[in-house]
Amino acid sequence: MGMDGWCALPYRARMLGTDTAARSASLTGGGGRRVGGKIVVVTGGGSGIGRATAELFAAEGAAAVVVVDVADTGENSGPQTVELVRKAGARALFVRADVSVEAQVQAAIGAALAEFGRLDAAVNCAGVAGSGAKIADMELQEWNRVVSIDLTGTFLSLKHEIRAMLPNHAGTIVNIASAAGLVPVPYLSPYCSAKHGVLGLTKTAAKEYRKSGLRINAICPGVVDTPMIRASAAERPEVAKQSQAAAGAQSGAESGGSFIGRPEQIAAAAVWLCSPAASFVNGESMVVDGGTVTR
Ligand SMILES: NC(=O)c1ccc[n+]([C@@H]2O[C@H](COP(=O)([O-])OP(=O)(O)OC[C@H]3O[C@@H](n4cnc5c(N)ncnc54)[C@H](O)[C@@H]3O)[C@@H](O)[C@H]2O)c1
Repeated sequence: MGMDGWCALPYRARMLGTDTAARSASLTGGGGRRVGGKIVVVTGGGSGIGRATAELFAAEGAAAVVVVDVADTGENSGPQTVELVRKAGARALFVRADVSVEAQVQAAIGAALAEFGRLDAAVNCAGVAGSGAKIADMELQEWNRVVSIDLTGTFLSLKHEIRAMLPNHAGTIVNIASAAGLVPVPYLSPYCSAKHGVLGLTKTAAKEYRKSGLRINAICPGVVDTPMIRASAAERPEVAKQSQAAAGAQSGAESGGSFIGRPEQIAAAAVWLCSPAASFVNGESMVVDGGTVTR
């Protein structure tokens, strides 16, 4: 796993020592039922932000969560998230799929429909940071790998989720972009370009389908304590340093505060966007970063 510029700050977050569902419930006012009965797909649901989102949907009353991920074994994998979702009270299904392969995405959404009958909400979290290099040194293969997962994978997920929702004239989708979708991040041109693209895709989708009853929004997280950021910091400390110097001029790390978020803080925004409380929010790129990129 490579280096995300917005994952490039020194790892300093302290975990609170309680389980994710409990922490999430405290963020949402004690475990409401804001998405009661919904059938939800979470891509990249095996780990990090996707896992927290899957758990929070269950804690907030979703009927079923379909976890789509390439990771099918180990601690950070779809089957492990399915266990957590069931513990939190919802039905759950794991489907192994690579979001950059259309046939697999189509099959995953098809499996969700076959098992649960319809699709009400989707959160597209699957993504990779890529390895760090300046543009003149960036290999085409690495560019294509990151863009095919982060941008094309979001497009393919969106395409098949929209198709599944259109017959019901209702549905909400959230694409997890990044603060790197709004500001430049040196050494991470494929990631930064893909995340900028995700915002354009989200806005276009919102315009295309608003008359069909669909709402489609994006979230731009700042630095969040997940396996992605931990792996990046461990594997490429030198790129982390360079990235921090270039991209983190106004970061919390430099001003002495701790602005590393927790996955459930992003999940809280995603679940809210999929809830009736956000019924007039469409085509929005919501920054959830503790105030890092604001000017
Ligand atoms: N952690 C951060 O600081 C941060 C900041 C901004 C944006 N994001 C974005 O949030 C999303 C989730 O990231 P995270 O930090 O939770 O990372 P993570 O590595 O913990 O989780 C990403 C998940 O996506 C899955 N995945 C990767 N490639 C896939 C593919 N081709 N098909 C299906 N699944 C695939 C992985 O197996 C993993 O379970 C990503 O899109 C990431 O770019 C993260």
